[in-house]
Amino acid sequence: MTRAFPHPYTLGDAQRWLDLNTNVPLARHFAIEVDGTLTGGIGFDPYGGERDGAGSFGYWLGRKYWGRGIATEAARILSGYALKEGGLRRLEALVFAENAASVRVLEKADFSLEGVLRQHYLDRAGRVCDALLFARLS
Ligand SMILES: CC(C)(COP(=O)(O)OP(=O)(O)OC[C@H]1O[C@@H](n2cnc3c(N)ncnc32)[C@H](O)[C@@H]1OP(=O)(O)O)[C@@H](O)C(=O)NCCC(=O)NCCS
Repeated sequence: MTRAFPHPYTLGDAQRWLDLNTNVPLARHFAIEVDGTLTGGIGFDPYGGERDGAGSFGYWLGRKYWGRGIATEAARILSGYALKEGGLRRLEALVFAENAASVRVLEKADFSLEGVLRQHYLDRAGRVCDALLFARLS
């Protein structure tokens, strides 16, 4: 994951996540719940300004729950919601090029690969990594 995701994850980080859905006309950030347990998160953020109508999309899932199709189902549902209820025409997701599972999730949620952003990321170990830009249009 990118460094934008806090680690260690504090109570304050959780509160900031909850605050994203406070006083907004439409919820954009959701918990992924399995059998009553919080297992992950998924959401989108419109860019605004000259990129009005476009937005970013991201998700994570606790390791224990990987490999059960949960992220795929969540990504399909939420990307559809962002493009319909969220009023976006374009939803973008950037992934580490090595993150094969996330690439598959996006492909199965009807995102298309648009390009390679060479040496775009530093991972948590400080290694330079390529990123892949995926997008889904309404
Ligand atoms: C990426 C992530 C969300 C995937 O969640 P998941 O629920 O395990 O994904 P799913 O089970 O829905 O599907 C994963 C797909 O990737 C495939 N996959 C899983 N691990 C893989 C690997 N190492 N190499 C290739 N494909 C892999 C699965 O086979 C499946 O595809 P298939 O249905 O065609 O067989 C989860 O691993 C995660 O949260 N990772 C850490 C955070 C992260 O990477 N977030 C995304 C940032 S862009």
